[in-house]
Amino acid sequence: MKVLVVGGGGREHTLVWKLKQSPRVKEIYCAPGNAGISGEAACVDIAADDIDALLDFALEKGINLTVVGPEAPLSLGIVDRFREKGLRIFGPAQKAAEIEGSKVLAKEIMYKYNIPTAEYADFTDSDKAVEYIRKVGAPIVVKADGLAAGKGVIVAMDEQTAVDAVKSIMEERAFGDSGNRVVIEQFLEGEEVSILAFTDGTNVVPMVSSQDHKRIYDNDEGPNTGGMGAYSPAPVYTRDVEPFVYERVLLPTIQGMKEEGRTYEGVIYAGLMMTKDGPKVLEYNARFGDPETQAVLARLETDLVDIIDAVLEKRLADIEIKWSDNVAVCVVMASGGYPGSYEKGKVISGLNEAESEGAIVFHAGTAEKDGQIVSSGGRVLGVTALGSSIPEAIENVYRAVAKITWDGVQYRKDIGKKAIKHL
Ligand code: AMP
Ligand code: GLY
Repeated sequence: MKVLVVGGGGREHTLVWKLKQSPRVKEIYCAPGNAGISGEAACVDIAADDIDALLDFALEKGINLTVVGPEAPLSLGIVDRFREKGLRIFGPAQKAAEIEGSKVLAKEIMYKYNIPTAEYADFTDSDKAVEYIRKVGAPIVVKADGLAAGKGVIVAMDEQTAVDAVKSIMEERAFGDSGNRVVIEQFLEGEEVSILAFTDGTNVVPMVSSQDHKRIYDNDEGPNTGGMGAYSPAPVYTRDVEPFVYERVLLPTIQGMKEEGRTYEGVIYAGLMMTKDGPKVLEYNARFGDPETQAVLARLETDLVDIIDAVLEKRLADIEIKWSDNVAVCVVMASGGYPGSYEKGKVISGLNEAESEGAIVFHAGTAEKDGQIVSSGGRVLGVTALGSSIPEAIENVYRAVAKITWDGVQYRKDIGKKAIKHL
């Protein structure tokens, strides 16, 4: 079959890499892709959110399956548009993807279906929001309702920071219309875990657990980023909590979405805080996580095309999904200055040497220039390695990372460290 992957980051490189392992995939395209993806798929110069152009391309090429990476095309309704034309596409419809696109909707679903989450209030009026902050006090969390490229959440340790966040989101409109409403939420403490699951709208099959590293610097210091590394499994997510998360989070979310007329199909991602009172949902994403996907799919043994077929044909309950017992660690290598401003076009060296160390080098922000691979984004590479234990996987990945360099490169030296303390 002919497959199209939409997106061009590390997650999409991983999807292309995994889909290509399927004997059923004969041709694979990626829009827009990146320099690493172009070694494995035909990259097409169409932006991930240009639905019209993607649709034309898929019709013209006779694409049999489209797999969507990022949230933007999902919230623009790419799935609905493709299906109207009879095309097979993996991902939630627009109304379902809103669970990521609107934090207010996500909270309403959680409250209505009794899914554990932080207490909250939502506001369309900034004065009322400020009044509420003054009443409840800090620490407190302020969230823009809509999509904000991962920047719309402010964890405020003091009242003034929270008040400033409300002003920036609602009055200065830092995220445009995404700031028409805000969610103000109780601060939760604990370790975070990402649980991704496949769902066909009725059945939910969780993937193996993983943990992201959102802050830019070691020991979780500095500003938030898109994610500086991940590992799988996350030992904080013990066997004991699995049934709780399945029964109290994943299943009611999918059942609730169906009852709301928002039948959810594809990958649902629950970001959980493992609090002392048990797991609580921080957020939902309507897609695979980045960089969680690099660590999680590195452990998937089942053909991803078979799983996607089972989702599309609503027979997810009948398929067995197998995972390797290995541990996977992904270290994100980023441009100097990220998540602030950074320079692009730096020549990257050591890619082949890193692969000779047994790692998989997933590209995120890379481009080809005069026959060389150069940086072209904030997060540049996701170097991923397996091992039979977390210390071994960490050693394997950093041996490979050490081979790669460019002017200004930065990466965290402590990816996976949190897992070790649970051993
Ligand atoms: P979100 O986009 O909702 O996942 O928020 C981004 C990050 O903010 C999360 O990964 C957490 O680290 C943090 N965060 C979100 N909500 C809370 C909360 N209620 N308490 C503490 N931290 C939070
Ligand atoms: N790694 C966080 C996300 O994909 O949203």
